[in-house]
Amino acid sequence: MTRAAQVMLDPQALRHNFQRVRQCAPRSRVLAVIKDNGYGHGMVATARALGEADGFAVACLEEALALRNSGIRKTIVMLSGYFGREELSVIADHDLTVVLHHRSQLQVLEASDPYAPIRLWIKLNTGMNRLGFRPAQLAEVWARLRASGKVNMESVVLMTHLASADDRQDPATLKQLEVFQGAVRGYDLPLSIANSAGVLGWPQCHADWVRPGLMLYGMSPFTDTLAADHDLRPVMTLRSRLIALQECRSGERIGYGGSWVCPDNMPVGIVAIGYGDGYPRGIGAGTTVLVNGHQVPVIGRVSMDMLAVDLRTHSDARVGDDVTLWGRGLAVEQIARAAGRIPYELTCGIAARVRRIEVRG
Ligand SMILES: Cc1ncc(COP(=O)(O)O)c(C=O)c1O
Repeated sequence: MTRAAQVMLDPQALRHNFQRVRQCAPRSRVLAVIKDNGYGHGMVATARALGEADGFAVACLEEALALRNSGIRKTIVMLSGYFGREELSVIADHDLTVVLHHRSQLQVLEASDPYAPIRLWIKLNTGMNRLGFRPAQLAEVWARLRASGKVNMESVVLMTHLASADDRQDPATLKQLEVFQGAVRGYDLPLSIANSAGVLGWPQCHADWVRPGLMLYGMSPFTDTLAADHDLRPVMTLRSRLIALQECRSGERIGYGGSWVCPDNMPVGIVAIGYGDGYPRGIGAGTTVLVNGHQVPVIGRVSMDMLAVDLRTHSDARVGDDVTLWGRGLAVEQIARAAGRIPYELTCGIAARVRRIEVRG
């Protein structure tokens, strides 16, 4: 018997969410962020479904090459840039774009001999303190890039990344914007600031290129809203089936450690999905799944391959019935919150053994 757990992927939802980006930021080009296997949705399939995107962002060279080798010809930006000289020739050879964020990369570039000018975005650190040059370093970086003769200066975009845009009350975003605007003044170059939270919540940050990830997959970047509040549709639905039913008696314990005790004589359903598939083990009480579209609570500890559900409100459920863990009808943001995680972790964490099926029509 094949495992019942499967991920359904909906390219139409992806395209709908992409149009939402266009509606929110109509004057910006869109760099669709598809790193980490398209946030678990499949990197190449996502790129193919998003033919209207102006370019794609990945984390590293391996991801960029996988995309190029699958026939994607658009701009591909490597957000973590490069590390060694040997990478630069491959980057030039495949017409990839790198993010330059650190002096060590500048030194590598100056000491290297790439076979063609490198396409490059410069990242500024405006307050996140993760990657990027300080604004005061930009003049020197710019002068050295020009002098090197190794950069396609037409390709340069100035970018920064927002640290707290998911909190619309946090003044840190406007502070970052101010620092960025001050740093780029006098450079007549395209600019890029906004991630999904920036696209949806901070129009003043849209600039020339937006870089949404999360919202494309139909997830809200804010902690106080769900995707549907922004007219976003879930691209991934995680499903499985009931593989057993138990008629338990009052006082009987469910699963490892017997952490959940039946308050009544009651039907318990066993679903073929567990933490070995990527379902979070650490969910809080009251986390639900949909059995045939009926919302029922998960009970006891999540095992590697299975979890148990309370079927008292849906006692006509049968072995083989359909179970939705998240996606259509049950927001992944809610499951993530119940597990003390963020939705990115859940979709990125789907295990290789879970079958992936593209929804058609
Ligand atoms: C530099 C950069 N830009 C954009 C994004 C997309 O962010 P989000 O998925 O929140 O839209 C990321 C994701 O981590 C990123 O690192």
